Amino acid sequence: MQKKFIIQRFWPEKDKIPYWQIYEIDCQEDWTVLDALEAIRAFDPTLTYRRVCRHGVCGSCAMNINGFNSLACETRIASLPKNIKIRPLPGFPIIRDLVVDLERLYQNYTVIKPYLITSSPPEKEYIQSLEERHLLDGLYECLLCGACTSACPTFWVNENFLGPGIFLQACRFILDSRDKGFNLRKEILRKSDIWRCHGILNCVEACPKGLNPFQAIMHLRKILLFGGKR
Ligand code: SF4
Ligand code: FES
Repeated sequence: MQKKFIIQRFWPEKDKIPYWQIYEIDCQEDWTVLDALEAIRAFDPTLTYRRVCRHGVCGSCAMNINGFNSLACETRIASLPKNIKIRPLPGFPIIRDLVVDLERLYQNYTVIKPYLITSSPPEKEYIQSLEERHLLDGLYECLLCGACTSACPTFWVNENFLGPGIFLQACRFILDSRDKGFNLRKEILRKSDIWRCHGILNCVEACPKGLNPFQAIMHLRKILLFGGKR
């Protein structure tokens, strides 16, 4: 299966502006975009991108494929047209080629205190009912890949906006029955720009795991307005 890959290249140390480079290669039916990038890199080792797990778990291969933020290791070549245009995640500074600087995302992650806040940890283990555990479904699966945040216009223009993925993570911790930091977490959210989300829903479309950061944002807003976790 012959495919044409049009890939954005940019090395800030030597290029003034990004440019497109074309590679035509023969792909196997069952390849993912990541397999194709590996095949290209076998003859052009200068092509730079991130990948670790190759199984949709680590989130490091998030990139923009034919206009959609996606995981390269989960996007099948067979599902794409002959021409495949790949560029780095929009909205983040480019380090090199398809690798972006996610520092802002990680800094924002620290703001929401991404760990259980407890005053007196149990001697043995936390007991969580099935119902309490199910409250985390649709939240704990987040990879922190940045695909949703990269697609969010509010994140692009508002430097205080934490981003949809980070609000989804905030929701994950505030709903955890083992966490005792409810009031502190509400204070953090009050100081955030959570009300700046305009419900454009790009984040929902972009998430490769089918999660719904907008729903998480709405849930957090409900908590801020009415109190209570549910
Ligand atoms: S919500 Fe989805 S798109 Fe956003 S960081 Fe998590 S896994 Fe990635
Ligand atoms: S390489 Fe880990 S999600 Fe793609």
